[in-house]
Amino acid sequence: MKRYGVFFAGMCMAATAWCGPVGSEYLLQTKNTSLAFAKEEGTWLLLHYGAKISQIEDARLLASKGFAGDSWLGYRKPATYSVNGADTYFEKTGNKFGGLAVIHADGVLSTELADAGAETVADRDGVTHLVIRMKDTVYPFTVQQHFRAVYESDVVETWVEITHTESAPVRLVRMDSAALVFPLISKRFYVMTLTGEWASEGQLVESPLALGQTISLTSRSGIRSAFGNNASFMLSLDTPATETAGRVIGGALAWSGAWTIGLRHDQIDMLSIHAGADTGSGAYVLDPGKTIVLPKLMLTFSDQGKGQVSRNFHRWARDIHIHNGNSSRPVLLNSWEGAYFTFTEKTLTDMMDGVKEMGGEMFVIDDGWFGRGEFARDDDRRGLGDWVLNEKKLPHGLEWLVNQTKDRGLGFGIWVEPEMANTASELVKAHPDWVLREKTRALRQGRGGSQVVLDMTNPAVRDNIFGQLDAILQSGKRIDYIKWDANASVMNVGSTFLGKDRQANLWFDYTTGLYELLSRVRAKYPDVMINACSSGGGHMDYGFLHFADEFWTSDNTDARQRVFIQWGAGQFYPACMMGSHVTVVPNHQTGRTTPLKYRFDVAMSGRMGFELHPSKMTADEVAFAKNAVAEYKRIRPVVQQGDLYRLVSPWQNSYASLMYASSAKDHAVIYVYGLNRPIHSDYPPPLLLQGIDPAKRYKVTELTREKGKRPHIPVDGKVLSGDALKNVGLPIRLGTEYDSAIFELTEVK
Ligand code: DGJ
Repeated sequence: MKRYGVFFAGMCMAATAWCGPVGSEYLLQTKNTSLAFAKEEGTWLLLHYGAKISQIEDARLLASKGFAGDSWLGYRKPATYSVNGADTYFEKTGNKFGGLAVIHADGVLSTELADAGAETVADRDGVTHLVIRMKDTVYPFTVQQHFRAVYESDVVETWVEITHTESAPVRLVRMDSAALVFPLISKRFYVMTLTGEWASEGQLVESPLALGQTISLTSRSGIRSAFGNNASFMLSLDTPATETAGRVIGGALAWSGAWTIGLRHDQIDMLSIHAGADTGSGAYVLDPGKTIVLPKLMLTFSDQGKGQVSRNFHRWARDIHIHNGNSSRPVLLNSWEGAYFTFTEKTLTDMMDGVKEMGGEMFVIDDGWFGRGEFARDDDRRGLGDWVLNEKKLPHGLEWLVNQTKDRGLGFGIWVEPEMANTASELVKAHPDWVLREKTRALRQGRGGSQVVLDMTNPAVRDNIFGQLDAILQSGKRIDYIKWDANASVMNVGSTFLGKDRQANLWFDYTTGLYELLSRVRAKYPDVMINACSSGGGHMDYGFLHFADEFWTSDNTDARQRVFIQWGAGQFYPACMMGSHVTVVPNHQTGRTTPLKYRFDVAMSGRMGFELHPSKMTADEVAFAKNAVAEYKRIRPVVQQGDLYRLVSPWQNSYASLMYASSAKDHAVIYVYGLNRPIHSDYPPPLLLQGIDPAKRYKVTELTREKGKRPHIPVDGKVLSGDALKNVGLPIRLGTEYDSAIFELTEVK
């Protein structure tokens, strides 16, 4: 089993922790949070996870016998990793079957883990890495549990690795990355998650987690792991947290295949959190001597509401998890909605001219550029899998096309869908066994009636796809960006590569195969940006996003609906990743017409781009666009690398507002979007700004102003103090339904 993820070699830093063995307790610290562990009767227990404490002894005393968190008189054992063994059978974990359920080689169904030594190990600066080793009391079966505490962002990554040397394979019926039982911490819990569908991703839902209940979140059938539910949650303690108040535990699972998350409030008010890869329709077969590394669950905590939980995830992602998280993303034009499959070289060079004129920095050719002969990709029925140039459409070749962008001073990006093929392709004709299928059943085919999924468990398939991608990147010479699409689920659950006794390994091994392929691309092309597309939103998961610079947020490009979708995505994922494009009206997905300014104002709150044919824009529209792009470039550092503050939710109001502030608090940008405004009522109260310094003074400037229109604030161009902007607030005026505004704050010394 290959490892994936962020594994950095490094020194143990005095500033974070010493490397070495750990005794019977350990306090894992981040800037504002603590995780306290203690060993009792050979089991590691969780004493505390929450706001920071300084002394582990205090946590021990407060969790003394007979009181909260007790593992003796109390019913439950707050185990750091609850497994299917005596503890579950005596109902001490509150979780039926625990997070790990194993059928051992001899058929025994229980696992009993005992401490086999804990230690802190070397990691990168600013990260404390605790490893707890556990071994079954009877079987040569071991579990290593990792906790990687990232100091600055208050995020703790946790996962387990499982290995054994039993006489034959074991079967993992459940294999959660985390199965944490908390001590008694509250009597009320509320769970906020993202749900949705294609083109309606990121919908916020929140509900109480009632006594005795479990909220179970699951993905759909792998690949587009973020469709349906997103692998993330915010769990409020005591009362539903607001943006600025309340205790909240945030979680996000880094897995791009099928997954499950369970949040349980048991009958005696103890909480447990389970999260991991879903074993799907069977158990995972693990051979002796092999190690399975399960995906990371990221946890964070804040006692200052959901906004801080989001900022913690964003900072962690930019600082240590995603690709080049702290560099700026270009303004690009993607060809899809402007041309779909129908384009010539001239269509594309006209688009390049258009985006260049508006101040854009990159051109991306979407679907339709590949396939040859009878498999030329002129629609979605053919060609996937044949990553060779469609010479009919692009007779001058790929390098010529790339040079066209370079000559204009633009970057070049290209669309691919590496995991899928059409049955109408040279690839599938030559290798029908490379396609996922159940050998006795008719092949289910997806998009275009002929789309299938390639078997990523098979190294030969990955070699072929890597070879084809490599050839494109080589022949195009200076390709800067790959849009990595994936428009299918696991429609056929069968692999000719995996043996008949391990077909269920497909669910897990597909994803590790995909990560191996992505790692190869990353290793050879470290400077090429990757957009995680996946039908829009399907890869808003921190597994794929470890390899990516950004994601395509949704195929729904309607600006009004994007206010909601991006509001949802931003709960867990940073703005620098959030592809947000200006498109034409009526919108291609919803038919809604919104003003051009509104569409720009929405796109400018994420990674701004275009998806239209610029030659169809009027001169006034181009002039507006030029100014907006120039302004976006000025505010880009604060949008893409600043801290997000959500001011007014679109879910409860007729307008929405959010802002970003730089960590130095010298620059901020505020967005306001009307959603469905009744006239002469429902006036927005002043926006109480956040993330700025009350002691500083700021110049307030309205951006994306339209010629001849009144400003949306009475203080455009004025200098105001941070305390007034925070405490009196910025008075705003919204006019008609899709009115919108952007304001920039710049510190004046
Ligand atoms: C789905 C993506 O989300 C779109 O942006 C576009 O790339 C199409 N696929 C192309 O087939």
